[in-house]
Amino acid sequence: MKNFILKGDIAYSENKDKIKTIEQGYLVCEDGICKGAFEKLPKKYEEFPLIDCGEKLIIPGMTDLHTHAPQYACRGFAMDLELLEWLEAYAFPQEARYASLEYADQAYDVLVKDLKKSFTTRAVFFGTLHKEATTLLMDKLEDSGIVTYVGRVSMDRNGGMNLQETSVEKSIADTRDWLQSIEGRYNRTKPILTPRFIPSCSDKVMANLGEIAESQNVRIQSHLSENPSEIEWVKDLVPASSCYANAYEIFGCMGSPEAPAIMAHCVYSDQAEMEIMKKHGAYVAHCADSNMNLSSGIAPATKFLEYGLNMGLGSDIAGGTSLNMMDAIIASIKASKLYWRLIDSNSRILTFEQAFFLATAGGGSYFGKVGAFEDGFDFDALVLDDSETLSPGGLSIRDRLERMCYDSGKCVVAKKFVVGQEIALG
Ligand code: GUN
Ligand code: FE
Repeated sequence: MKNFILKGDIAYSENKDKIKTIEQGYLVCEDGICKGAFEKLPKKYEEFPLIDCGEKLIIPGMTDLHTHAPQYACRGFAMDLELLEWLEAYAFPQEARYASLEYADQAYDVLVKDLKKSFTTRAVFFGTLHKEATTLLMDKLEDSGIVTYVGRVSMDRNGGMNLQETSVEKSIADTRDWLQSIEGRYNRTKPILTPRFIPSCSDKVMANLGEIAESQNVRIQSHLSENPSEIEWVKDLVPASSCYANAYEIFGCMGSPEAPAIMAHCVYSDQAEMEIMKKHGAYVAHCADSNMNLSSGIAPATKFLEYGLNMGLGSDIAGGTSLNMMDAIIASIKASKLYWRLIDSNSRILTFEQAFFLATAGGGSYFGKVGAFEDGFDFDALVLDDSETLSPGGLSIRDRLERMCYDSGKCVVAKKFVVGQEIALG
């Protein structure tokens, strides 16, 4: 169905501080594009078929701006170490298993099945260094209808015997071959260059990725200033850099406002890093759950917002344990309270409005006009049954939304649309 209307209780971010709500409103989809949310249906849309969602909530789909597809199979255990030790002990051995396409097939099936049922309509994934397994993941994501960027991970140093490209040349050739092999293959799935982080990539590999980004107009994602030992290590590895963000900048891996980079975490990003990110239009992927699990710290999310950085939320599976973006909303609010209490009493706490914005329109803007119900936006919508979370006497739509995020286990996704296409939830 190309043109249709959803009727129900509608909520979306009008801006980062305001959620607009419409009781029993009409949300119009024409050719995959949202024509707006209305209290009264405009005459010109009266012929469109109407799907009556009753009392259900209708909200924009959510964007997961940073997550590791191969680590979904090792989520929720082995969370007893800090980043660098955790990578070596758990994450890298897990990723090494994707050398087997049979393993990748099984593991990515589970991930994509869960993703379809989730609140996520857009996501940006790290794969592994394996070309074939990463392409298999892209095939499955394309079939799901969810819109994604997926990266074959570049890592030619410090990965250990089982998870490291064998030479600079091999790393460069694998990226080139992978990009060529998927050219023209997908509608909803795009490649993204993915230097794992500075400790994983030699100068030559970094510089090559910077060149590809520039010459082929491909975007880049990576990790930035996540953990104190990591940051110290980067200083040693790139002695000419003034800070971690500058190390990416030196190699041309910070992107541009037209093709912005995503930098995950930014827990220790100071004024100098914020300035570099702003200059390049880079996105912060704020991953509060992961930052707690790996004892990384607390990112100054409200400072980033006030400074005007592009930002969204990331689940960072398996540093984070949940694909559920409502969990990411709540983790980011709680983390900002601890930041205020423990680190900077002059900082502001993230409001629910702001956290909801980050999960929808904030992260969504990485994909274009995505994450709100304004005229001209891609039609990405969730129809949610929150009847199990309601209290006697009723709640406003805005309060239902907040309640639902705190009690999301009881919230059922009844329908999900991405660019107007209904996603099979089963
Ligand atoms: N930095 C480099 N690799 C990773 C990873 O897999 N997870 C997280 N959280 N940080 C990283
Ligand atoms: Fe990560």
